[in-house]
Amino acid sequence: MLRIAVCVSGGGTNLQAIIDAIRDGRITNAEIVSVISNKPDAYALKRAEENGIKSVCVNRKDYPDKESFYKALMDAVDGAIPDLVVLAGFMVVLPPEMIRKYQRKIINIHPSLIPSFCGDGFYGLKVHEAALARGVKVTGATVHFVDEGTDTGPIIRQKAVDVHEGDTPEILQKRVMEQAEWVIMPEVIDEIANGEINIGMERK
Ligand code: GRF
Repeated sequence: MLRIAVCVSGGGTNLQAIIDAIRDGRITNAEIVSVISNKPDAYALKRAEENGIKSVCVNRKDYPDKESFYKALMDAVDGAIPDLVVLAGFMVVLPPEMIRKYQRKIINIHPSLIPSFCGDGFYGLKVHEAALARGVKVTGATVHFVDEGTDTGPIIRQKAVDVHEGDTPEILQKRVMEQAEWVIMPEVIDEIANGEINIGMERK
């Protein structure tokens, strides 16, 4: 069983997609052992609770400095003893120590076709605003391993989504989520859990 920790900051629709995929068998050999949020009011925490998944909130505001916040975050992740850490809308720059410790064991979903519209400042609706401003006809989503840069780690999977005439950033965001994010993240997790994508995990 692949032990997954999911880090969230917001609505948690990607978390929900993973929960649903485990429930209906599109992801096998995996379980979510912890949901970790940096926001106490993240709706993702409610989703965890409703699904009987342990959750923990590590709020920057509860810590005097970045170091102690980072330590608490690392403790929360380590405490879950995860084989895989999934960033699903996690709006925190990870501690470099965590990235080193969990090399090739942290994956992220980004709502564009990397290397377009990614890197510092490209998050949430801003990604879709930039895509529309540039006038691209195709955008999409990318699942990638996390390294020390922003959206620079090795790409695992991408899925393209058409841009339609008259799209607003909100409409495009929804289409990218429905057609790409909620599809490829569960697919990748299933392949990791079943050894088709190698993250150097011992088979248990
Ligand atoms: C998604 O668009 C994801 O690609 C981005 O943040 C958003 C999170 O949405 N990194 P949700 O919290 O999973 O609903």
